[in-house]
Amino acid sequence: MRQQLEQLSHVAESELTQATTLTDLEQVRIRFLGRKGTLTQLLRGLSSVDPAERPLIGDLANRIKESFNQAHAARLETLQQQELETSLRREAVDVTLPGRDRLPGGIHPLTRAVEEISGFFRHAGFVTATGPEVESDWHNFEALNIPADHPARDMHDTFYLPPGPDGRRRVLRTHTSPVQIRFMEGRQPPLRVIAPGRVYRCDSDITHTPMFHQVEGFMVDKGVSFGHLKGLLEAFLRHFFARDLPVRFRPSFFPFTEPSAEVDMGCIFCQARGCRICKGSGWIEVLGCGMIHPVVLKNVGIDREVYSGFAFGLGVERMAMLKYRIDDLRTLFDNDTRFLRLHATV
Ligand code: PHE
Repeated sequence: MRQQLEQLSHVAESELTQATTLTDLEQVRIRFLGRKGTLTQLLRGLSSVDPAERPLIGDLANRIKESFNQAHAARLETLQQQELETSLRREAVDVTLPGRDRLPGGIHPLTRAVEEISGFFRHAGFVTATGPEVESDWHNFEALNIPADHPARDMHDTFYLPPGPDGRRRVLRTHTSPVQIRFMEGRQPPLRVIAPGRVYRCDSDITHTPMFHQVEGFMVDKGVSFGHLKGLLEAFLRHFFARDLPVRFRPSFFPFTEPSAEVDMGCIFCQARGCRICKGSGWIEVLGCGMIHPVVLKNVGIDREVYSGFAFGLGVERMAMLKYRIDDLRTLFDNDTRFLRLHATV
């Protein structure tokens, strides 16, 4: 038995030195000292040992345990130290690494375009006004001389909403012109107003999104003529695109202006020589405008014998795409950060 004991102790201590992890080490301890451990099991046979020898054997077994425990404790400390060092190394922070930049926010190209457009007109003495996106039929159509069943309603693919508390039909405004009505109702000239905002049309393809932005502008005073409108819009386009563009006014029709015109500017991509963007014509259509229709002035209680006015409306997406050379309308709404990083300004 003595020999067996020494043999076991030998094996156990050499296993201790081979244990390389804390779990290994615990396994060794259990295999040797645990309830089913080799030492424990051997000592169960103590009763069959000659009674005279038993105390000696017991003494030896105690010393073996003692020495095992000491070796175990030493190994435990080494391994714990090692694990600590590895985890410190793994979690080390290299304070000499360059800092991580925060992505700066920027101004979306549409916001920027609205700012640049409004900015020009503010300098010309226009004040900014806004109106609701959920509009009454009166403000969006009727007051603007677009009665129900008028064919001009077909120009706007309208989103109709359930009637409001007053039982009247409401729409998502199809243009910013209702702001003209809201602003003129209850005010008298002189008026000079710029009204940027979202508008909605039931239309979606490569060149149309159901929501887009317009900027409306109008001026009402004594003696306001088409000449004022023409001069102002020419100056605006040349300022916005920062070049001496050719600009032309083409007769057109809007129910709320008379006479009405569509404004074209020389294509900035081909210097009016004709390209894909201007479809070979050398001209790009950018605005609708005209002299405010007398019926509209009457609808808002402004004396059309004394006052006259002009109005214009432009599409912000189109202006932004032309100015910042964006060739796909949808990228303005995708929120792809690669696009935004390219076109946003800080
Ligand atoms: N409201 C018109 C549209 O959306 C644009 C416009 C505004 C035309 C003002 C003339 C005067 O098409």
